[in-house]
Amino acid sequence: MKKQFAALVLALLPVLGFANSEGFHPDSVDIDLTDKAAMQDGARTFANYCMGCHSAKFQRYERVAHDLGISEELMLNNLVFTGAKIGDHMSIGMQPQDAKTWFGAAPPDLTLVARVRGADWLYTYLRTFYEDSKRPWGVNNKMFPNVGMPNVLVGLQGRQVIGCKQIQVVEDGKKQYDPLTGAPLTHEACDQLTIVPKTGSLTEEQFNEKVKNLVTFLSYSANPVKLESQRIGTYVLLYLAFFFVFAYLLKREYWKDVH
Ligand code: HEC
Repeated sequence: MKKQFAALVLALLPVLGFANSEGFHPDSVDIDLTDKAAMQDGARTFANYCMGCHSAKFQRYERVAHDLGISEELMLNNLVFTGAKIGDHMSIGMQPQDAKTWFGAAPPDLTLVARVRGADWLYTYLRTFYEDSKRPWGVNNKMFPNVGMPNVLVGLQGRQVIGCKQIQVVEDGKKQYDPLTGAPLTHEACDQLTIVPKTGSLTEEQFNEKVKNLVTFLSYSANPVKLESQRIGTYVLLYLAFFFVFAYLLKREYWKDVH
């Protein structure tokens, strides 16, 4: 028995080791796929800041307009910069070969990226570009080390640098304060990101919201039927509840004479 137990522990060791060796931990984000305003804002950011390089070619403009409650005219005037028609897929003109020469890696299609990477990963990736003079675009990324993509949102977020700074001690998720003076307890931590003040047009909260909206749009795009299935699901449940009443009444009627 003891031997079996030891074998089990040994067998589990690699799993535990693997779980521990995970790299940078992503921030978590709550995505609400019923928030159309968020998705509209995200779609606008996507068209303005991402579609220069990335397509979403499994998605059609028409479908997005319909699902997000945007009129076709508004969509064509404000979100379509490629001269595409409303029924077209959201593809772009950049050729993968050219992109590879320019960036070292072709910008992948982003229709399904939220399914592959997950919302937390995307939310963190888009917020953790930092200046690194050793990289071709002058930036590196916490979530995607040595990434080939420039920091396209720098004008909104501002320049972000990495270095050592004093951060507040947190234990069990609670910020710690000096019991005598009430001052925050801090310690020096390195490898920390700081936004250089007044270098971006948005505050940190506004920027986080912008990125959250963009990730909401990408999550929708990766699973456009989710909205629909939630709606249908509600009807199915309502129908079942309604049907149950009749089934119950019918059952009572049938069994009345048996009892
Ligand atoms: C100037 C071109 C350019 C623009 C604009 C751009 N990207 Fe990128 N992006 C790239 C390149 C190139 C890569 C590939 C990087 C690599 O593999 O090293 C990439 C990679 C990515 C990845 C990682 C995909 C994966 O799973 O490997 C994501 C996610 C992404 N981009 C999202 C965005 C979003 C969202 C925007 C708009 C806010 C955007 N990009 C704007 C060039 C661009």
